[in-house]
Amino acid sequence: MAEIVIVPDAAAAGALVADEIARLIRRTPDVVLGLATGSTPVPVYEALPERLQGLDLSSVRGFALDEYVGLDPAHPESYRSVIAREVIEPLGLDPARIRVPDGRLQGIQHAGEDYEAALGAAGGVELQLLGIGTDGHIGFNEPGSSFASLTRVKTLTEQTRSDNARFFDSIDDVPRHCITQGLGTILRAGHLVLLAFGDSKAEAVAGAVEGPVTASLPASAIQLHPHATVVIDEEAASGLRFADYYRYTFDNKPEWQGL
Ligand code: F6R
Repeated sequence: MAEIVIVPDAAAAGALVADEIARLIRRTPDVVLGLATGSTPVPVYEALPERLQGLDLSSVRGFALDEYVGLDPAHPESYRSVIAREVIEPLGLDPARIRVPDGRLQGIQHAGEDYEAALGAAGGVELQLLGIGTDGHIGFNEPGSSFASLTRVKTLTEQTRSDNARFFDSIDDVPRHCITQGLGTILRAGHLVLLAFGDSKAEAVAGAVEGPVTASLPASAIQLHPHATVVIDEEAASGLRFADYYRYTFDNKPEWQGL
């Protein structure tokens, strides 16, 4: 099962995960990182600059999880723009080495296949950051997504559109379709790091970690991964039956094991 790490707050989660990313970059300067968007990974991105000071980041590579379909890539809420603003620019990464699925309508029929080919050519993702939707999605793999799915177009649930309306002027502006790495794609990454903060994520987290493995709760796919780490605050952990055991395990973890 996944390792569950319960931290006091999002900043502590950001520090823990940023330390691990810095360690990977030091070890492998052209590491392939799996990037997420939305609110959840922001504390990680904010913690990175301090930890990466003095490192040569010119060969770091990255692949985003997903993108809206039909949204102008120049729109401030396109995930291409978000990744540029929150990751590429503050860290000074090479934009040519950071990919986001292409959600433009022209070419959308082969955009999924192209993305899979690029991921394959890069040798796959080493560490994949994940958030979780209130409906249990990871990437934009909504309930019912196949565990074998690859990058493709999906229809967002109304719940996800309403959750993401905060990034747009109105819910009517939230696209109905997205292109997302599949659960099969995500499961191929070397290390999955799922983060979640706040009460609104508690039910989805409990289902993903302690519930049955089911396509009805796509994040439960992480139970099939040999190296998955779930970093959550107390609120997001509030639905977990075995929270005390997870705390005990992490507190007594041998130093050499790392994250
Ligand atoms: C974003 C993504 C989504 C989000 C999820 C949670 O790239 O793939 O799965 O991680 O919708 O969103 P936030 O973090 O905004 O609560």
